[in-house]
Amino acid sequence: MRKTLTTLHDMARKGEKIAALTCYDASFAKLLEAAGVDILLVGDSLGMVLQGRESTLPVTLEQMAYHVDCVARGSTQALIVADMPFGSYQDNPQQAFRNASQLLRAGAHMVKLEGGQAMLETTRFLVERGVPVFAHLGLTPQSVHQMGGYRVQAKGEAEAQQLQQDALDLCAAGASLMLLECIPAALARAVTTTIPVPTIGIGAGADCSGQVLVLYDLLGIYPGKTPKFVKNYMQGAASIQQAVAQYVSDVKGQRFPAPEHCF
Ligand code: KIV
Repeated sequence: MRKTLTTLHDMARKGEKIAALTCYDASFAKLLEAAGVDILLVGDSLGMVLQGRESTLPVTLEQMAYHVDCVARGSTQALIVADMPFGSYQDNPQQAFRNASQLLRAGAHMVKLEGGQAMLETTRFLVERGVPVFAHLGLTPQSVHQMGGYRVQAKGEAEAQQLQQDALDLCAAGASLMLLECIPAALARAVTTTIPVPTIGIGAGADCSGQVLVLYDLLGIYPGKTPKFVKNYMQGAASIQQAVAQYVSDVKGQRFPAPEHCF
């Protein structure tokens, strides 16, 4: 049976960890679901891992819709989330709704938006019109130039307080999942215990309601420096299927992330 937001909220309430991975095509959608992955995130990371670009910024709405359509054809079990690409939602809520509806028509069940206070009005607008919103706080890769690189966020007290407030306000505006990227584990724990929706972490410690990784990082096939929060599950695995199943088992069994993957 297809996982829904209700399923995921129930899992979080019962303390069952949620396993998410990025996914960009039908074959991997089938394989990831067979291994027990709960959320398939069609991430704009595809700009870097598929297209070989330096950041996620050049990814277009049409490219996202194409990959959502591919994933949806291979998927019967997981919740499908689509990233809204840079420039497709920041103008105004109407622009965001128009573009989110294209991703939902392609097969996504919800959309992910990067940002805090600036996204409150848009989040409310989308949710009131039937588009579920996955909020994304901490390291928001679409702001890489503003942040001066891919760095751990909210290490100081003021920044941490702002992130907690953003998380609360986004939930009040209707966000129903919260992605926390590259923040101190203690802050992610505090957010997870404070907000009413599940948190999915990447480089955010073991106490989030679930975890996500970029598939190509988990498979060890993205060239370049490996971030601290990544584990290459192909090491010691006999197949891709086994590597993904081990990731799911480690997330559910709370063996991933280990202390060495956290900030
Ligand atoms: O695009 C992406 O892959 C993401 C990651 C944080 C998982 O948003």
